[in-house]
Amino acid sequence: MSAGGESGAQGRVVAPEEITAQVIARFDSCSDPRLREIMRALVAHLHGFVTEVGLTEAEWAQAIGELTATGQITDDKRQEFILWSDTLGVSMLVDALAHPAPNGATESTVLGPFYVSGSPLREYGANIAEQEAGAPAWVHGRVLDLDGAPIAGAELDVWQNGDNRLYAVQDEDAPDDHLRGRFQTDAEGRFAFRAVRPVPYPIPDDGPVGHMLTATGRHPWRPAHVHIVVRAPGHKSVTTHIFDAESTYLDDDAVFAVKPSLMRHFEDRAADDPDRPAGVEEPWVSLDLDLVLAPGADEATVEDMGRTH
Ligand code: BEZ
Ligand code: FE
Repeated sequence: MSAGGESGAQGRVVAPEEITAQVIARFDSCSDPRLREIMRALVAHLHGFVTEVGLTEAEWAQAIGELTATGQITDDKRQEFILWSDTLGVSMLVDALAHPAPNGATESTVLGPFYVSGSPLREYGANIAEQEAGAPAWVHGRVLDLDGAPIAGAELDVWQNGDNRLYAVQDEDAPDDHLRGRFQTDAEGRFAFRAVRPVPYPIPDDGPVGHMLTATGRHPWRPAHVHIVVRAPGHKSVTTHIFDAESTYLDDDAVFAVKPSLMRHFEDRAADDPDRPAGVEEPWVSLDLDLVLAPGADEATVEDMGRTH
C-alpha cells in the first residue's frame, strides 16, 4: 500500500469520538477544578448532542445565525440570552438547584426581565397603580418564619403588569414607578397594598426566541401573576410570583415557572363591600397571602445582572 493509504500513519481516519476526547483532554491542565469540571462536561454534552441528532452543516450554520441574532438584539434593556434560558427551562432548573424545596417556606421562581431595583418605599395599604390599570386588588397578609412567628421589618418588593399587559418598564405612557413598590411589615409581620388583578401576557417574541417558539409550535404566553421578592434580616430572601389560580396558561407557561404552591384565588368582592379599600367604588378582588421565609443568609444576588425589558 502506498504511503498515505488508509492504514498509513498520515492517512488515518479520525473517528468523531476522537475529536470529543481530544477536546475534553485539552482542559486537563486547567488549574481551576470547578472550571475544569464545567468545561469537560460542557464539551461532552455538546458533542453528545451534535452526534445524537447528527447535526448537519446547514443546521449548524442556522444555529450560529440564531446566536448572532441573539447577541445583536441584546442590549441594556433586552436580554435575549436569558430569554433562551427561560424558554428552555434552564432558568427554572438553576433556580431549583440553588433553592431546593424548603419545608414550608414560600417557593421561589424566576425573576423575569421586568424587575427594576429601587422601587419606591410605600406606606402600608398604599396603591401601586399610579394610573388606571385594571380591577382593584387588595393584597394583604403576613410574613412568617418556619415556626409561624411573624417577621417584623421584612421587605416586599412588588411589581406586576396592568390590563394593557405591560409592565411600567415596557410602557412609554406609564410613570416609572407605576405598578411597583416596596412595603415593610409591621410589628405583627403584616403587610397590605392595593394593586390590580394581573393579566396573562406574552414574553418578548420579536427576536430569535420568538422564532424558535413559532417554529416549534409553542406560544409565548405567561399566566397572570404578581412578582414579589421578600427580604428579611436573618432569613433567606425569596424571589417568587403569586399566580392567579383562575388564569389561563397555568398548565403551559412559556417559561415553566408555575409551581402549584404559588397559585392563589383572588376573591371577588362587590363594589359596596364594607371592607373595600379607600377610593374603590367598583367591583374589586382581595388576596389573602402569607409568605414564609427560611432562616439563613443570601448568597450572591443575580437580581441586577443587566436584564430588564
Ligand atoms: C416575567 O414574569 O416577567 C417574565 C419571566 C421570564 C421571561 C419573561 C417574562
Ligand atoms: Fe411577569
